[in-house]
Amino acid sequence: MLGIIGGSGLTQLANLDVSHREVVRTPYGEPSGPLTFGRIGCREVAFIARHGYGHTIPPHLVNYRANIHALESSGVTQVVSVASVGGIRADLGPGVLVVPHQIIDYTWGREMTFQSGGDGPVVHVDFTEPYDADVRRMLLDVAARVGEPVTDGAVYATTQGPRLETAAEINRMQGDGADIVGMTGMPEAGLARELELPYAALCVVANWAAGRADSLHGIRFESLEAVLQEAMARVRRIIEGLCEA
Ligand code: HPA
Repeated sequence: MLGIIGGSGLTQLANLDVSHREVVRTPYGEPSGPLTFGRIGCREVAFIARHGYGHTIPPHLVNYRANIHALESSGVTQVVSVASVGGIRADLGPGVLVVPHQIIDYTWGREMTFQSGGDGPVVHVDFTEPYDADVRRMLLDVAARVGEPVTDGAVYATTQGPRLETAAEINRMQGDGADIVGMTGMPEAGLARELELPYAALCVVANWAAGRADSLHGIRFESLEAVLQEAMARVRRIIEGLCEA
């Protein structure tokens, strides 16, 4: 079963033929909301809205452990995470879709591991390549097949939020090698890896990052909404494509 985590701008999947909704209990507390199960085409899908269906949970308070655990315990075998980001690299402006290949984690204070220091041995999961190669390839191939341009590869800087960054912070992140910036990439990807759940992200660039292009003196939210809506229509076409036999 394909798991889809919807971010800002994707709180539901209109093309999902819903069979049922379920509040999945986990040892880590409540997920962001009930999981929605159903079919798109001939593929079974489980969907969860990362920020809750009413978009009420800020990035630093999302229960990433519960969300990932709920998907895994429900039989999900591949996860596509949809997330909106700011663009740092010059070719990654508003409206661009990108499948990142690397992560830098600037978050702090989040529950970021399933290892709770109990009786079991300490495990250091390999995270050299944070995204699953097959899920990335599937996203890129399907996007090409349905004719939606998607950029292959970007370094995703995950910030703590919920505030946006300063221009100097973005300069520093760019110096570190970051191409896009968002608030939810971690610990989500790391937790999926701990459960050996193949996971990749499809990111929508909603705005230029702080201090870049038309965000030189501030990020204007009025334009952000329209960009997201249009881009999410393209994301939906790609998701439909993932589910074609
Ligand atoms: N910064 C961090 N997260 C984001 C941004 C941004 O500019 N845009 C969308 N999510």
